[in-house]
Amino acid sequence: MTSVTLLVAISSEVFSTAATGTGNPDEAKSIVVEHCVKCHVVPGYGPERAPESIDAPSSKWMARNPELYPEPRLRQFLRRPHYPMRGIIHSDTDIGNIITFIEGLR
Ligand code: HEC
Repeated sequence: MTSVTLLVAISSEVFSTAATGTGNPDEAKSIVVEHCVKCHVVPGYGPERAPESIDAPSSKWMARNPELYPEPRLRQFLRRPHYPMRGIIHSDTDIGNIITFIEGLR
């Protein structure tokens, strides 16, 4: 019983912090402009429309749907370069900054 309670407490801790990034969004801007806007629509930083051949979710869509894109999922995802962003490996600090940047677009 105690371990179940503990597990619930840990899970709700993870989920309650899911939507609050702790990075510095300003630090992410140059990365976003250099790498991400080629494929993702980022209002104010890139094209209004993503290239039609690339089916990348817009940053605003991700920001407005934190239940679909919780922070741990984004963090996990960005640790590995996603096709077709081969070769770009972000530091944990950069990842935190990027996530806070995305959340700020809500
Ligand atoms: C060459 C195109 C391309 C570039 C550049 C690119 N992405 Fe993506 N991204 C995609 C595509 C396509 C998807 C959807 C398919 C997938 O999930 O792999 C995606 C999905 C994502 C997702 C959703 C992850 C999820 O959980 O489903 C995130 C977050 C993301 N990209 C962040 C970024 C960030 C941050 C950058 C810049 C550092 C970036 N992307 C650069 C093409 C790109």
